[in-house]
Amino acid sequence: MHNLLSIEDLGSQGIAKVIALSDVFVEVNRRAIPKVPALRGKTVALAFFEDSTRTRISFETAARRLSADTLALGKTGSSLSKGESIKDTVAALESIGADCVVMRHSCAGVPEQVARWTNISVVNAGDGWHEHPTQALVDCYTLVGMRRLGWPEKEVVLDPRSMESQSLQDDRTTYSTWVSYASDELPLQGIKIGIVGDIKHSRVARSDSIAFSLLGARVVLISTPPLLPTSLSFWPVEVAYDLDSVIGDLDVLYLLRIQTERGGGQVIPTLREYSLLYGLNASRKDMLPRHAVIMHPGPVNRGVEISYDIADSPSSLVSKQVANGVPVRMAVLYMLLAGSGGLQLDLGDSMADAVPTHERESGETYISDDVDKYSSGWLDPTEVKRTEK
Ligand code: CP
Repeated sequence: MHNLLSIEDLGSQGIAKVIALSDVFVEVNRRAIPKVPALRGKTVALAFFEDSTRTRISFETAARRLSADTLALGKTGSSLSKGESIKDTVAALESIGADCVVMRHSCAGVPEQVARWTNISVVNAGDGWHEHPTQALVDCYTLVGMRRLGWPEKEVVLDPRSMESQSLQDDRTTYSTWVSYASDELPLQGIKIGIVGDIKHSRVARSDSIAFSLLGARVVLISTPPLLPTSLSFWPVEVAYDLDSVIGDLDVLYLLRIQTERGGGQVIPTLREYSLLYGLNASRKDMLPRHAVIMHPGPVNRGVEISYDIADSPSSLVSKQVANGVPVRMAVLYMLLAGSGGLQLDLGDSMADAVPTHERESGETYISDDVDKYSSGWLDPTEVKRTEK
């Protein structure tokens, strides 16, 4: 794979491959020195022409933890403000030796057009109302992690700021504590996900609907007609207009903010009315099944789509989604940049001296892992091997 422009570029097997690689990079992130030389000599350009916190800092962290060099470019502080075109800007990035450009833009289709102009890899980090494929990968990884722990049949409480599952923290010696889903099932089979909010202007809703469906989940879009796309015939979803009539049947309540910068605020009477009809408050949370989890891609507008206290409740996976952003984006960069045979993960010798001896002796510090073997089906992480150098 050369570019990641849409979640459809990956398909279900591609998502499985990213999940497999993300498991390996969770392990890397757990080390005392969470860095490997996998992309040493590569340069990742972060071209964020629209504001971002989570996506930008997690891509930057991911690139650095893979030992790639990074360079950052924004709407201001670059020659775009002097009238230079995006085509010439990307040509400049290619000329100075960038291997990849991670791009966010307020207009749909810009990363795809850039990919036609350049030979370097292009990652869509969010383009207008269109797609946000790496957010969908993060969300899939988060829910598949829950599934492995036995959720929703079993209630699972996570350390929200950790990339690891609770079981992994309890027993760091093996992945075998993970409860794996049945191998003949898609990993989100039987899960019902309600995506609520400004779906019309949401690139996350589009990428997540596709990705969740590819993994076997049932997706229901819940909103008022002005905040739904004009046509949903190509979306693999059901639609509901009344949150209260479907909330009791959801395993996941995925909340979206009103995208005021794209006009979302202009098609509803007031944010207060929206909040009364679609916001998650304490009484509506009581209508959710006990096992149900709450997700949100961020940024969260507390007091609008979710009340202040519920945003921090134990049912919320929001911090977990952010934490998973780093290993998942490490997986994406690795897949794109490590070379055509790049799924042979060689974490190299050069980090050996940087790792405390007791970790080396434990045999947990290095993984030499053929991730490709998992790509033919849904991986069972109990098979992840550790080899001592
Ligand atoms: N979820 C997401 O894309 O957040 P940022 O806008 O902060 O990157």
